[in-house]
Amino acid sequence: MAQQDEVFKKIVSHAKEYGFVFPSSEIYDGLSAVYDYGQNGVELKNNIKRYWWDSMTLLHDNIVGIDSAIFMHPTIWKASGHVDAFNDPLIDNRDSKKRYRADVLIEEAIAKIEEKIEKEVKKAAKRFGDSFDEAMFRETNPRVLEHKAKRDALHQRYSDAMNAGDLNELRQIILDEEIVCPISGTRNWTEVRQFNLMFSTEMGSTADGAMKVYLRPETAQGIFVNYLNVQKTGRMRIPFGIAQIGKAFRNEIVARQFIFRMREFEQMEMQFFVRPGEELNWFKTWKEWRLKWHKALGLGDEKYRYHDHEKLAHYANAATDIEFQMPFGFKEVEGIHSRTNFDLSQHEKFSGKNIKYFDPELNESYVPYVIETSIGVDRMFLSVLCSSYEEQQLEGGDKRVVLHLPAALAPVKCAVMPLVKKDGLPEKAREIVNDLKFDFSTHYDEKDSIGKRYRRQDAIGTPYCITVDHQTLEDNTVTLRHRDTMEQSRVAIADLHKLIHDNVSINSLLRKLA
Ligand code: GAP
Repeated sequence: MAQQDEVFKKIVSHAKEYGFVFPSSEIYDGLSAVYDYGQNGVELKNNIKRYWWDSMTLLHDNIVGIDSAIFMHPTIWKASGHVDAFNDPLIDNRDSKKRYRADVLIEEAIAKIEEKIEKEVKKAAKRFGDSFDEAMFRETNPRVLEHKAKRDALHQRYSDAMNAGDLNELRQIILDEEIVCPISGTRNWTEVRQFNLMFSTEMGSTADGAMKVYLRPETAQGIFVNYLNVQKTGRMRIPFGIAQIGKAFRNEIVARQFIFRMREFEQMEMQFFVRPGEELNWFKTWKEWRLKWHKALGLGDEKYRYHDHEKLAHYANAATDIEFQMPFGFKEVEGIHSRTNFDLSQHEKFSGKNIKYFDPELNESYVPYVIETSIGVDRMFLSVLCSSYEEQQLEGGDKRVVLHLPAALAPVKCAVMPLVKKDGLPEKAREIVNDLKFDFSTHYDEKDSIGKRYRRQDAIGTPYCITVDHQTLEDNTVTLRHRDTMEQSRVAIADLHKLIHDNVSINSLLRKLA
């Protein structure tokens, strides 16, 4: 674990050093859980968004996109339940004056018991060597069984308290488990209170009687309140979907792990409108499609798993997360939810407008059911970054840090380098850049030794380096170097475009989904 923490720290500093992610407002000492994307980060992020957007709107002729405003009528958030129920249970330590999420403190206590189990297993594996039967040990060792029983009892008590919204019981669990504040080390806890995660501001001048408005905590509601506009103007027939990419804001209390949990982040959400009764089939289909989308990136199939929800939100009749193996464990990157007709029915009720869909095939009107796929751009970015990062020991004692980014997502697709800064090589290299730049993000680099220039491109994940040398002037060929293998081949300048295009286009990813 400590080693993974180390790796994660290195990834975070690499992201900063190479222009991917900067802490927001850094010269003012930063703003907690808010980040800015640098010159390479924004390109990687845009490529992730393009891959998602095209996979939705190009590959499905029944999905279209919208871009709704961040500010919406405040009643929308009343109808959706966010005003009353989008809360985290908070507790303060009176000595350190630090605030914590009560649920997170308890989950950490559960995780500590699990760590104890794993420690026992590791110790025994070392002691027994090859003859160790892990499954048997887990089922029979008295100490493991004792820890398991404790964990299960605590988990049950915690789930019951969360399901019942019983804040006193959450506090009592914290006291009974003797959970201490990591800063003060004391158990001097306040009561547990609910804390709403929505940011709010005021619209209009105070003289007019300003209206309290919220910064949207999800993009989905902008889709729901527009679904009939899109359906009518686009002559859409059920089943159909509406996709949207945009910023969302949550006043997260426990914000950590870099860009994993932020206060301002971006979502890519798609709401798919279906006939009542058909939603669970569509849920299954979208679950499979979305995992396929992730796996097509080639980050490693074993790094994904589903986490089906046992405890469902009151409006859902099925929900699953796609989790990705981050350096700090398997974590949710995307949620797929069968949201029933809850949101649309609520908007019908609160707006007083009929927003039913008339189904010409059934000759009846109904409120559609909805399957939602909701993925965080920043978490997707983090999963791509973490799984691409590698420190490689090379032959001859040399080292390199390389980002094995999926070529279609790489911020720079190719770098063109004259071997030396004279003899007409820079001019020839510029000529190549001027041709390729219309189709690919292309760097020109003539500074430092060729080895250093390769390392710089490896560190930002550029799939191809093109070196122009004296032979180029004679026969119009260049050296094409591949990032991952470092292999070099001699290719004609005339063939460069096709060679690069076939591997770096978003198209090449989309074709894997067809
Ligand atoms: N409309 C449904 C919805 O918003 P969610 O599970 O709360 O569902 C969906 O969020 C996705 O948004 C998550 O899977 C995650 O990728 C991303 N996300 C949520 N909160 C986030 C945060 N504070 N920082 C970064 N990404 C976040």
